[in-house]
Amino acid sequence: MIKSTFEETDPPTLHVAIIMDGNGRWATARGLPRHAGHQAGARSVRRVIEAAPGLGIRILTLFAFSSDNWKRPVLEVSTLMRLFRMYLASETERCIRNGVRVSVIGRRDRLPIPLQEAISRTEERTRAGETLHLRLAVDYSSRDAILAAAGRLEKAAARGGDSTREAFSRWLGEAEHGSAPAPDVDVLIRTGGEQRLSDFLLWESAYAELFFVKELWPDFTSGHLQAVLEEFRRRERRFGAVPQAAVSSR
Ligand code: FPP
Repeated sequence: MIKSTFEETDPPTLHVAIIMDGNGRWATARGLPRHAGHQAGARSVRRVIEAAPGLGIRILTLFAFSSDNWKRPVLEVSTLMRLFRMYLASETERCIRNGVRVSVIGRRDRLPIPLQEAISRTEERTRAGETLHLRLAVDYSSRDAILAAAGRLEKAAARGGDSTREAFSRWLGEAEHGSAPAPDVDVLIRTGGEQRLSDFLLWESAYAELFFVKELWPDFTSGHLQAVLEEFRRRERRFGAVPQAAVSSR
């Protein structure tokens, strides 16, 4: 467990979201099949989850499989689905011990039934965890979630419900995982050197601080995460307002 370095000024629910990119390149560079990269990526997932609470992270959302990833070769997709199921089976006890609540966001209906069952079991068994809320995005598309939430908002508005941002966020929570919405993302990290959002948490990241790091996901360590958070704490978040110094010099 990493030494605690979080600061009193952090949001009480510091939400970090990660696009875990680079597994394929990591494997190819070693002459290995792509699935070996995903297996190495699963080890990084465990490292980052272990480090997160000590770094002040209360919510961690990991992009594990996008709705566009179904376009990948069948063998790669089935290997990933098996890896997710095995990961949940092997990590649930550890999550319970460490107070990690696991939720999965995204569509469930296209996932293999054994994976759907594993997700429900893990969500149920880890429900009481209060140290970290781990959200795994699987068959997830932010645009699809926004579209679904817009439909629900429209129906509710027709019955006299609110059309506010807060109401929309609640419908988005419903559309993404059928429960309360997570707070906005504070820190969004993408590993692997590319600089794009790839349909991940578009509404929730409106004021996220973005970090594009060159390390491939299997090489990403708790030290890299700590470095990102140190840089995050040096940034001034203004949410569209003016710097504090400009307010006090008026
Ligand atoms: C993107 O890298 C990664 C994925 C589509 C899969 C992410 C899966 C894991 C990290 C495995 C473990 C996850 C859990 C939750 C147990 P890529 O394959 O597109 O890499 P490339 O850009 O180098 O090809």
